[in-house]
Amino acid sequence: MTMVGTEDFTGWLRDFEGAALLRRTWGDPDWSVGARLEPALVRSLQRFQVGEDGDGAHLTDKARRAGDPVYAEAVRLFVAEEREHARLLAGLLEAAGAATISGHWTDTAFVRLRRFLGLRTELMVLMLAEVVALGYYRALRDGVRDLLTSEVAARILADELRHVPFHRDRLRLSFRGSSRSSRVAVAALWWLLLAGALTVVVIDHGEALRLAGVSKAAFAREVAGYFRAVVAEVTAR
Ligand SMILES: [Fe+2]
Ligand SMILES: [Fe+2]
Repeated sequence: MTMVGTEDFTGWLRDFEGAALLRRTWGDPDWSVGARLEPALVRSLQRFQVGEDGDGAHLTDKARRAGDPVYAEAVRLFVAEEREHARLLAGLLEAAGAATISGHWTDTAFVRLRRFLGLRTELMVLMLAEVVALGYYRALRDGVRDLLTSEVAARILADELRHVPFHRDRLRLSFRGSSRSSRVAVAALWWLLLAGALTVVVIDHGEALRLAGVSKAAFAREVAGYFRAVVAEVTAR
């Protein structure tokens, strides 16, 4: 029998609750100051806005079926946080006088794919979006000369910085009983998926990233760096 072990997600649940409380205390950014965004940034933010909305769509059910109510509740708050990101990005787009879009093929494909996955595989795919988000919002926060954009990116980035280790902890738990060879195989496949995701992202968002002062290569390096740490921590014995 494989020992699954019990990892306590109470700490994560408290973190998500704390973040929700802080959000209610702070309230919204001051949308009335408006935002000035180049067309390429608008297009890029529109796609991320749709993506944030779709994140975690089927995750809550899978988490509930995994049998740990504390983890399931943390996941519910995680999904709410991704929806909040979509709401913030919609507010930013509106402040820039731009509309939101209803969907983008990359996102539709991503959400459809994830529907058929089990919890562990879904978290592995979701992790790709999370590390991409770290690089993307970091670039926007530091490189876009628009105060409202920078504030929205900073708020979202602060959450994404929690999402990555949250999913990492659950994934590490799910690999606890795996052999060394299957961990090596999983790590290799996971890297292939990251390479594919990064290719799509730099093609789609390369111009926006350049406006934020980050080249495609620098972005790929930065995201690969975040990912390397995650893969090492998840697949280490
Ligand atoms: Fe997000
Ligand atoms: Fe996230």
